Amino acid sequence: MAPSKDLRHFLDLLRKNGELLSVGEEVDPRFEVCEFLRQFDKGDGPALLFEKVKGHSIRIVGNLVGTRKRLALAFGLQSEERLLETYRRRRARKIEPRRVRSGPVKQVVIKEKRRVDLNALPIPVYHEADGGPYITCGIVTAKDPVSGLRSMGLHRLQIKEKRKMGIHLSNPPIARFAEEAERNGKPLDIAISLGVHPIILLASIVSSAREDKVAIASSLLGSPISLVKCETVDVEAPAHAEVVIEGKVLPNVRELEGPFGETSGYYFSDHSHVIEVTAITSRKNPIIQALHPTVREVSLLGGPAGEAEMIQMLRERGFAVQDLAISQSSNRTHVTLSLRKSHEADPRQLLHFLLSGVPYIKHAVVVDDDVNVHDPQDIEWAIATRVQGDEDLLIIPNLRARSIDPSKKGDFMTKVGLDATVPMPLRERFRRISVPSEVREKVAKMILRLKEKTGSGYKRSD
Ligand SMILES: Cc1cc2nc3c(=O)[nH]c(=O)nc-3n(C[C@H](O)[C@H](O)[C@H](O)COP(=O)(O)O)c2cc1C
Repeated sequence: MAPSKDLRHFLDLLRKNGELLSVGEEVDPRFEVCEFLRQFDKGDGPALLFEKVKGHSIRIVGNLVGTRKRLALAFGLQSEERLLETYRRRRARKIEPRRVRSGPVKQVVIKEKRRVDLNALPIPVYHEADGGPYITCGIVTAKDPVSGLRSMGLHRLQIKEKRKMGIHLSNPPIARFAEEAERNGKPLDIAISLGVHPIILLASIVSSAREDKVAIASSLLGSPISLVKCETVDVEAPAHAEVVIEGKVLPNVRELEGPFGETSGYYFSDHSHVIEVTAITSRKNPIIQALHPTVREVSLLGGPAGEAEMIQMLRERGFAVQDLAISQSSNRTHVTLSLRKSHEADPRQLLHFLLSGVPYIKHAVVVDDDVNVHDPQDIEWAIATRVQGDEDLLIIPNLRARSIDPSKKGDFMTKVGLDATVPMPLRERFRRISVPSEVREKVAKMILRLKEKTGSGYKRSD
């Protein structure tokens, strides 16, 4: 199945697979959309399409890739099993985006100053102490003022006035582009897409400061993304986006932005950059996407892709990492890695490299390759039985803080690594108890037959 190319195709795919629920009753963008998304963020909860948003004719969609099944569908896969393998395969095949002259996003073009009005968009207010409506799913596209490299990032945007927004810029590449522009006293031209195929959203948060993330999205989608020139700024935006907000990040201007209930689960304010909006283009009757900061969708968008990127990067650096898992509930800050150790120093070297080199990883655990990093119980067992705190703890203080971490000390933070591997000479003592593998397989088959015979009923004794 060829992957769909825009949000509407993806919504059709979800509908066909029974994964989209339309909400017909009127829903207020102030808190109610947020609470709907939160309450549906359970089990196999569907994606939600809010048909009637109070005070607006524009629809909102949310919890779009809130399950692994829907993430697989975004890759055009019917099953989740081949997700990682597909990610790796497609990521390795370079596909460039292509420029087109026009596209659906130009159906409505508003660029006269007096007509540009952000309040016409149904932007939700998420949590009770938030400083106002926030675009949480605005994919920012811009170009490096020095090299011309185009890239994308996901950045929170506070609606302040009809033509003014606050933007939180702490991560590369967009934050770096703004820095470069500011160094020359120039604004940074940006395009913010609301409502795109989820693969574009996923690509926008891939950690890659030196690649065009639109090209990454094209590779992951398996076909070139069509880009159109913006009306008022020197950037291109996806031709099939639902809405594109064009604007300029102003140099040497900072204003209070927030508070905003962040992915960390806490409110966070900052002195942030300001955007002057120059145009809004859209489809007729657009649908915009809302991303609740703490639902599973956030970790799913960053998780499997982040794991695939990180394992690739570490192997390229020569670390014998067998597998790794970024924990879902830690907001991307905890990672467990399994290693095939060939030198006693391997875990420490890996921990030093990872903790000092990857800004968002705060705590990391290294285990041997007999531990399943995707099973929290197995990880806890390894920590309980293989760690001696006086020797196996690595503490690296005074690293650059992650801005949204409420426990940071000024601009600094401390990172901690745990070596939960077995000392090499003692491997025999740490042999896991088990039965012969052929017995494991035989009994697994017997259980399967039993299940087939009795439905799912292990409990039946007849
Ligand atoms: C849900 C979500 C929200 C984000 N919000 C912001 C933000 O407001 N400001 C920011 O600088 N980065 C934000 N990011 C991070 C960047 O969009 C993204 O991680 C970055 O472009 C990837 O590069 P990095 O991992 O090297 O930082 C957010 C990421 C996610 C997943």
